[in-house]
Amino acid sequence: PLVPMRLLLDHAAENDYGLAAFNVNNMEQIQAIMEAAAETNSPVIVQASRGARKYSQDNYLRHLMLAAAELYPTIPIVMHQDHGNSPDTCQSAIDNGFTSVMMDGSLQADGSTPADYDYNVGVTKTVVDAAHKQGVSVEGELGCLGSLETGGGEQEDGHGATEALSHDQLLTDPDEAERFVADTGVDALAVAIGTSHGAYKFTKKPTGEVLAMDRIEEIHKRLPNCHLVMHGSSSVPQELQDIINEYGGEMKQTYGVPVEEIQKGIKHGVRKVNVDTDNRMAITGAIRKVFATTPEKFDPRDYLKPAREKMKEVCIARMTAFGQAGWA
Ligand code: G3H
Ligand code: 13P
Ligand code: NA
Ligand code: ZN
Repeated sequence: PLVPMRLLLDHAAENDYGLAAFNVNNMEQIQAIMEAAAETNSPVIVQASRGARKYSQDNYLRHLMLAAAELYPTIPIVMHQDHGNSPDTCQSAIDNGFTSVMMDGSLQADGSTPADYDYNVGVTKTVVDAAHKQGVSVEGELGCLGSLETGGGEQEDGHGATEALSHDQLLTDPDEAERFVADTGVDALAVAIGTSHGAYKFTKKPTGEVLAMDRIEEIHKRLPNCHLVMHGSSSVPQELQDIINEYGGEMKQTYGVPVEEIQKGIKHGVRKVNVDTDNRMAITGAIRKVFATTPEKFDPRDYLKPAREKMKEVCIARMTAFGQAGWA
């Protein structure tokens, strides 16, 4: 069944594991996640960005999620709005069957500039009050995603840089986190620790200088009962870069968030781990391989099936590594 996210996060906290939250835009991605969950006996968080909702259309998305719930009646599934930019966006998600929403008030609604604390509290509290009445969970965000290597923040869509900020302005401040959770009543808090969206996070394997896992520990000490969320948590495996480049792709060498760093986070209160890029890369590599090795093929099933299979492999690996396998 579709369930509120709070239910899964509480269970994860009680049993010391983390949950991957995978982004989706189409049927094959939902199928890959559900097959991975069924194989590993994992609870599921599926999330759709605003761009995903626009691409797939809310009605298709809602019915695809209902199909997943129907096909897998024993698996608890959360349908989550990723990076909602306003109370209106969050309410329209709820109206379309989402059981959880993120109000990302860390940026202005147009994504252009970091927002101030009072704006963030205002919009987030508005969403919490409305969502909780409807049995829906809420994730908030405090701090600015963006690479500490370049000193730049980024827009919530991951496609543009805002003005350069210092390390400390980018990272979530533990004092402010404590206030924010008290002021808003969010079910989960996304924190900024030096990760960014997309494939190009770090130019070498990240050290503690650029990936501030110690911040998570500090925030968890202040807020031991708050469920923490890591965004920009794709690991960008070398193997997936190599497959894409072997079959005609042109990705520059890059580094993501190592799985073992995420596992450290899970020891310190991280309960939701957002992963999109790794699945995008798995799909693209598989499709490129079919196109390059069997250029005579033109039935979409000939490349979408291996693509779905490769995404499923990534999902199984993350579900297992984060500890959610075995809990559905
Ligand atoms: O927030 C970032 C997610 O990877 C979703 O990306 O906005 O391109 O759908 P998107
Ligand atoms: P990645 O780009 O690292 O997969 O992050 C996804 C994300 O944070 C979605 O909100
Ligand atoms: Na932010
Ligand atoms: Zn994100």
